[in-house]
Amino acid sequence: MRQEDIWDAETAQSYDTPGVGMFAPEVLEPTVDRLAELAGEGRALEFAIGTGRVAVPLAERGVPVTGIELSAPMIDQLRTKVDEATIPVIAGDMATATAPGKYTLVYLVFNTISNLLTQAEQVACFRNAARHLLPGGRFVIELWVPELRKLPSGQQAVVFHSEPGYIGLDTYDIVRQQLVSHHFTFDASRQARLFRSPHRYIWPSELDLMAQLAGFELESRHADWAGADFTAESRSHVSVYRIPPGN
Ligand SMILES: C[S@@+](CC[C@H](N)C(=O)[O-])C[C@H]1O[C@@H](n2cnc3c(N)ncnc32)[C@H](O)[C@@H]1O
Repeated sequence: MRQEDIWDAETAQSYDTPGVGMFAPEVLEPTVDRLAELAGEGRALEFAIGTGRVAVPLAERGVPVTGIELSAPMIDQLRTKVDEATIPVIAGDMATATAPGKYTLVYLVFNTISNLLTQAEQVACFRNAARHLLPGGRFVIELWVPELRKLPSGQQAVVFHSEPGYIGLDTYDIVRQQLVSHHFTFDASRQARLFRSPHRYIWPSELDLMAQLAGFELESRHADWAGADFTAESRSHVSVYRIPPGN
C-alpha cells in the first residue's frame, strides 16, 4: 500500500465532510486558535496539507500558510477552495521536500507523521521541519497514543471506534511497530465501504527522542488543542517542539 495509491482521486473527492467529523467547528476552531497563537506574526508551513482542512481556516484567520503534500488529487481538491497565491503548495514528500522561505511554525496534524512507515523517515521529517524554521520556531505534532493496552496477548485487532454505520479497526504488527487502520462504513444494505491506511505507530517518548535528534526540545504536551492535561488515559496528544533560541 503506497501513500500515493491511498490518497487517490476517489479518496480526495470524498475526504471533506463540511461541518461534521474532522471538519466540525468544535474540532477545527480550537485547532486553528492554537496554531494561530503559535504562528504569532510569522508564516506557517503545513506538512501533508491535504485538502486544506486546517490550512484554509488558518489562512482566513490571517496567518500566511504554505503546504507540502504528496498526493496530486488532494492538492487538486484544495485548489477547488483556494488558489496558489493564497496557499502555495509544494508537491513532494514532507520528509525531504523544501518549501521556500523560513517559518515561525511548522505543523503536522491528524496523526500524519505515522504515515511515514519507517523510523528513519520519521526522523528525517523532524529534521526537515527544523530546516524550515526560524530560530525559536516551533514544530507542532498531533498524534494518537498507541492503544496496545487494549490488545490482549495473541490478538491482532483492536476496535478503536464504533458508531451506527461505522467501525474503525486497527490490526497490529507489534514486531515491526506497524498497524493498518481499517475504516468500514456501511448502511442497511449488504455493502460496506472500506478505507485502509498503513501506519508506523510512535510512543510519545520515541517522538521526543526523534525531536531531540533534530535539535528540538519539548515545550508542551496536551491532550487536545484546548490545552487539557495529558494523562495516562489520554488517547491523543498535541506536542509542541521548539528549537531553543540561540541554536
Ligand atoms: C489524514 S490526511 C491529513 C490531511 C490534512 N493535514 C488534514 O488534517 O486534514 C493525510 C495526508 O498526508 C498526505 N501524505 C501522506 N504521506 C505523505 C508524505 N510522505 N509527504 C507529504 N504528504 C503525505 C496524504 O496524501 C494526505 O493528504
